Amino acid sequence: MSKNTTAATKSTNIQWHDGKVTAEKRIQLMGQKGATLWFTGLSGSGKSTIAVEVELALLEKDKVAYRLDGDNIRHGLNRNLGFSPEDRTENIRRIGEVTKLFADAGVISLCSFISPYKADRDEVRSIHLEHGIPFIEVYVDCPLAEAEKRDPKGFYKKARSGEIKGFTGIDAPYEAPNDMEIHLRTDQLSLTEECGKIINFLSENSYI
Ligand code: ADX
Repeated sequence: MSKNTTAATKSTNIQWHDGKVTAEKRIQLMGQKGATLWFTGLSGSGKSTIAVEVELALLEKDKVAYRLDGDNIRHGLNRNLGFSPEDRTENIRRIGEVTKLFADAGVISLCSFISPYKADRDEVRSIHLEHGIPFIEVYVDCPLAEAEKRDPKGFYKKARSGEIKGFTGIDAPYEAPNDMEIHLRTDQLSLTEECGKIINFLSENSYI
């Protein structure tokens, strides 16, 4: 299990600087309130595929939405992080801070990260809730056998053969959520049904 040590604060002599735009003014301007949808699940469970569809559905409803995806973010912002428990924790901590900023800017962000440690996801949740930002955890639930059968990137095969070490579900843990807002069994639902469940949740809770 990852030790969710909040990153040490090294910056000293810094002061928060407020702007002149209130949160209400920004909501009025954007015509929406920011929120974070956090997709967690095994590699190959369908997180990114679902996020792509939900992003499109939201844009078609004239909502500003943006995807943050583990594989993509690891090409840039988090390219100096690997897959050790500490690096995964730092990966999620940074993204949690980024999505908090996106939400403050009024954007609905769709975050697809394995995020295997419950403590790391809970930390992101509490950072959001502290700032009054909706945090919607979506458990993209797919049995390992099914994810392994899909193996879209061929990584499970490599993990089984030992070519990739510390692969989630094979020789690294995945701690499933038990307090998620949305639970999707992606081996049982269609992509359209999954997307529909998310959009319904957002509209029933007046997030859109
Ligand atoms: S997380 O565990 O830190 O949340 P993240 O979602 O950013 O992971 O990245 C996961 C993606 O990295 C996987 O979809 C896969 O493409 C790739 N990957 C490479 N090595 C590993 C590994 N050891 N475990 C899991 N995913 C890996």
